[in-house]
Amino acid sequence: MEIRKFLRGDRDAISRILLDAGVFTEEEIACAMEMVQEPGRSDIPPEYESFCAVEKETGQILGFVCIGEAALAEGVYELYWIAVRPSAQRKGVASALLKFVEEYVAKDKCRMIVIETSSCGRYEPSRAFYRKHGYRQVAQVSDFYSVGDDKLIFTKKIRQS
Ligand SMILES: CC(C)(COP(=O)(O)OP(=O)(O)OC[C@H]1O[C@@H](n2cnc3c(N)ncnc32)[C@H](O)[C@@H]1OP(=O)(O)O)[C@@H](O)C(=O)NCCC(=O)NCCS
Repeated sequence: MEIRKFLRGDRDAISRILLDAGVFTEEEIACAMEMVQEPGRSDIPPEYESFCAVEKETGQILGFVCIGEAALAEGVYELYWIAVRPSAQRKGVASALLKFVEEYVAKDKCRMIVIETSSCGRYEPSRAFYRKHGYRQVAQVSDFYSVGDDKLIFTKKIRQS
């Protein structure tokens, strides 16, 4: 497996991964697809960057991650989307993507990564995934997404200052 920058032509595979993940609403998928674009598109803020985990032998995209530098903050990145095709899950693909991203942002003087997610049951695997990788829940906004569906904010310090 290799991890490389998102390329033009990856969009269909990524859209399929988001659909097959079975956790995202149509609206969320549309939002993700707006952010996962070729670099250089003039109407997309340049701070969104996506990376794909690709099977070397077949070129198949196994998963992707989309990050961006948080606006109006110093040295903070947000992880917006991470997803792995169901047949490739539980094999370390998302862990490799996250490690790649943490090393990538560290080179850009990143202090902290922030991840927002939902409290609902279908996101438990992702919450377990974030916790496993040292992300700690620092805030909870009750009833944010809908009544009974809270926003959870996880953070991880990438460097001390
Ligand atoms: C969350 C997700 C990205 C993890 O991808 P993955 O490649 O399977 O993850 P990895 O194999 O690298 O890491 C696995 C770790 O994550 C956690 N995890 C992953 N799937 C899990 C599940 N179904 N139940 C409980 N924990 C789970 C565990 O801590 C696991 O470690 P273990 O295998 O040693 O128990 C994947 O399940 C996914 O794409 N989910 C749908 C999309 C999504 O919810 N994205 C997050 C919101 S943007």
